[in-house]
Amino acid sequence: MDGPRQVRKDEVGDLVDVLSDIFPFREWYSRDYMVSRMSRARSWRETLVIVEDGRPVSHIRTVYNNVSIYGCRVKVASIGSVGTHPDCRGRGYAGAILKQTMEQMVKRGAKVLIVSGGRSLYRRANCVPAGRRYEAEVRSADLGGQTSDLTVRQVTPEEWPALAPLHQAENVRFVRNVGFFSGLVFWWDCQYPQIWVVESRGEPLAYVSLALVWGKESEKRRRVAAEYAGSRAALMDALPTLFEAADLQVISLEVLGHDAELLYLLRQREIVPRTKTLSGTHRILDLPGMMRRLRPYLAERLPRVDMRRLRFDQTEEQCVFSYGDERLECGLSEAAPLVLGGPGAPKVTGELERVLSAIFPVPFPTPGFNYI
Ligand SMILES: CC(C)(COP(=O)(O)OP(=O)(O)OC[C@H]1O[C@@H](n2cnc3c(N)ncnc32)[C@H](O)[C@@H]1OP(=O)(O)O)[C@@H](O)C(=O)NCCC(=O)NCCS
Repeated sequence: MDGPRQVRKDEVGDLVDVLSDIFPFREWYSRDYMVSRMSRARSWRETLVIVEDGRPVSHIRTVYNNVSIYGCRVKVASIGSVGTHPDCRGRGYAGAILKQTMEQMVKRGAKVLIVSGGRSLYRRANCVPAGRRYEAEVRSADLGGQTSDLTVRQVTPEEWPALAPLHQAENVRFVRNVGFFSGLVFWWDCQYPQIWVVESRGEPLAYVSLALVWGKESEKRRRVAAEYAGSRAALMDALPTLFEAADLQVISLEVLGHDAELLYLLRQREIVPRTKTLSGTHRILDLPGMMRRLRPYLAERLPRVDMRRLRFDQTEEQCVFSYGDERLECGLSEAAPLVLGGPGAPKVTGELERVLSAIFPVPFPTPGFNYI
């Protein structure tokens, strides 16, 4: 057994074959396409594997992004295509790669790990459901015969530059450069995401992504809207037209917890969203580093005296929140819901409670097109 270590470029072909035996990639992509995408420097450099008899048998790929929270940039990491060859499972390979991957993430400055799943492998590494999100089932029948002069149009990723200003105006979002679509992991489009833009007299006002629901690919007339940006009012007004144009019956709209505007518009239409956490699971990698990056956010919510007395620390297994002499120590799996919101946050009392409730939960975005 060799590893965990970075995959070598000449091993990428074998790695693609193993991953294609684990995941149904062959249905979507040719081997050549996958090899070319995984051979890009930014891909194989962030890929850790365990190798047996000269062939990779276990794999985790990491992707780094920045998120912007009211203008504060925080580096986040995500992992994807986590897989071990069936003959080699249960030997601790994925767990060992994940441990090394997380150490590398901290060294590279990532503050939060976002994982798309919640299985035991991730829970054992303190990745837990966290963050605030609502899910609204919007049915075309519920919207009645509303009309508007808005138009909707499906666009391709190449048209992103026209939508980027809408995305850029979001106050909590993933930071993206203009060509980000071409740098996404090759499997990002497995759920056939469509991008629809809402326009008024040719001017883009909002956009929404509509993807098939994992495991419900047969339900072609149901889609999940995992990302939207721009005018919420225009988006809601355009929904009847969108249902018709996209030939849908149900849109499962994922609303971020801080989006009071969209939640208000849904309530006006008597649509009651369910409370959820952000999709997948989250782990705080570097609490003090994250809070340093968020200092401008804190400074708009806390007086200077509170800022001076508030401290954040983290060890391998614990996070520490302190205010003057008051101190709260909690496990990493409790820290994520405390910081980002969600069930399982520890009880906070005293002055620490007053101060932390002014800053937590920190609004946090969901990856949307940055899904890995
Ligand atoms: C998930 C997968 C990558 C695990 O690979 P692996 O090399 O067998 O992983 P490990 O040997 O480190 O751990 C295997 C299991 O034992 C569990 N485990 C490990 N040590 C343990 C311990 N000391 N006590 C209890 N459980 C333990 C792990 O949590 C993991 O549980 P899970 O498979 O239910 O998540 C592998 O099963 C796979 O490729 N599955 C198909 C693809 C897939 O579903 N990928 C994940 C996408 S979200």
